[in-house]
Amino acid sequence: MRHLLDTRTLAKDDALRILDTAEDMAATQQREVKKLPTLRGKTVVNLFYEDSTRTRISFEAAAKRLSADVINFSAKGSSVSKGESLKDTAQTLQAIGADGVVIRHPGSGAPARLASSGWIDAGVLNAGDGTHEHPTQALLDAFTMRRRLFGEDLAGSRGRDLDGVSAVIVGDLAHSRVARSNLWLLTTLGAHVTFVAPETLQPYGARTWPVTVRHSLDEALREDAPDVVMMLRIQSERMHAAFFPNEREYARNWGLDDGRLAALPERTIVMHPGPMNRGLEISSAAADSERSTVLEQVANGVSVRMAALYLLLSGERETQA
Ligand code: CP
Repeated sequence: MRHLLDTRTLAKDDALRILDTAEDMAATQQREVKKLPTLRGKTVVNLFYEDSTRTRISFEAAAKRLSADVINFSAKGSSVSKGESLKDTAQTLQAIGADGVVIRHPGSGAPARLASSGWIDAGVLNAGDGTHEHPTQALLDAFTMRRRLFGEDLAGSRGRDLDGVSAVIVGDLAHSRVARSNLWLLTTLGAHVTFVAPETLQPYGARTWPVTVRHSLDEALREDAPDVVMMLRIQSERMHAAFFPNEREYARNWGLDDGRLAALPERTIVMHPGPMNRGLEISSAAADSERSTVLEQVANGVSVRMAALYLLLSGERETQA
């Protein structure tokens, strides 16, 4: 692997290699000294054209725990606000010797453009592009599922795919790169995925994808016997008013409220990538319950991103074809 741009084209062997390497990384994070020398001398640039809390800080923590030098670049306050292009920004990063670029961008396809452009000779990791993909989020979600469902140790999780797992993904799917990345990765790993949303919030083209499409959350919880219920954020910043039922109607029909939480099978875990709209797509009781993996997902994100950076930027890195 030279870049990590999406999960749609990520081979199962590569996905399992990242998840198993993340298990090794997680084991090192239990030690008193968490830092590894693996990427000493390498420079990782976090290039964020959109806001982020979890992804940015966990990529930064991951790179630092591998001893890389980290440069954080936010479009706000940079020369991007003066009109500088992605090409000129990339060439600037090339000039300072970036070995890896972690990019979040509002434009779907921006990380792929950077990777194929020839402007920069760095490994590119997609940290979320438009409504396209967020591959490290899906990998940390799969890692979390594997641990919760099969055992929180190497023996339980290592090498395991998600064959037979049922995942119900609920919310603003039309705008969700997390939903898309999870769909491709989870199906590659053998899980069955159901998308639940009002018709206006289903992704265009979903009926041609390997997913069961439903409009009723109660029907999905009854019919799909989910091992995983993943609630997604209503992305008001990307939303046209015509697409959205009013908030009370949304919470009543598509929110994971206290009643639905209580009715879930005992084994079912509740996931949310964050940030959450408490009281809208998820109640506080659901977000803070023992079934909830919200904070585990954040912690696991560091191990998964350490694994991705290690596999892309250490000595195992391949040269571009
Ligand atoms: N899950 C996620 O991408 O969160 P941030 O937007 O805070 O990075």
